[in-house]
Amino acid sequence: MAFTTIHERADELEQKMSDELDVLITKSALANLEDGKRGPSGMGMARLAENPGKLFLIGDDPRLPKMPEKPTLLDYFKFRAGGTAHLLQSGMHALKAGMDEKIIMACLVHDIANSLFVKSDHGYWGAQLVEPYVDEEVSWAIRAHQALRFFPDESVGYKYPVLYTNYFGADYVPDDYIQDAYKKARNHKWYMTSRLITVHDIYSFDPNAKVSWEPFVDIIGRNFKQPKEGLGLDGSPVAHMWRTIRRPTKYL
Ligand SMILES: [Fe+2]
Ligand SMILES: [Fe+2]
Repeated sequence: MAFTTIHERADELEQKMSDELDVLITKSALANLEDGKRGPSGMGMARLAENPGKLFLIGDDPRLPKMPEKPTLLDYFKFRAGGTAHLLQSGMHALKAGMDEKIIMACLVHDIANSLFVKSDHGYWGAQLVEPYVDEEVSWAIRAHQALRFFPDESVGYKYPVLYTNYFGADYVPDDYIQDAYKKARNHKWYMTSRLITVHDIYSFDPNAKVSWEPFVDIIGRNFKQPKEGLGLDGSPVAHMWRTIRRPTKYL
């Protein structure tokens, strides 16, 4: 019997499940890199030959919920996120503290990259995703929060998160680029906007609290310029990123 690694077994199973669909689904280099493997997979004529009568997917992924023709920001959360409790709790914490709408908006989407896209460098990706649609101060604050989270500010009662010590160890030292980003942000005119994201960036203020987007619909309406064509179909510099979230396995 041929020796197969757990990885190869998982790949075979995944490919088998994928082959049972009506279309052939491939995996991107990024999805594979996250599994410790390199390059895209499941592509090419050989795959086609193994699956007579089938074609590669070049549209919606049948495994994911269908999205509206002209999706809004909330549609992306509804149809693509696994859960948004953390964002809603942060937004609610800011709302209850009487924060400015800009801060509430920033809190609501500060970890949007984690929810919908990529975790690594989530502050940067998240800021980029929303940049054309929000006030410059909001996207700046989202970008900077990634670095600020690692540095306490006693003036607003922000301590280094216990969670980070649990997650990354007591000796963890942030990368140089994060330290540089912190130093720059510290002296920026919008420092406090980003700092307030970290203040409201909480993981459980009330585990029984029922959270929903409902209380935030108007705030989002006023602070997020929803494109009439639909998010991803609007030709903004980041529209392709939204389209990729909508159709992550589109062949090309
Ligand atoms: Fe974050
Ligand atoms: Fe967060």
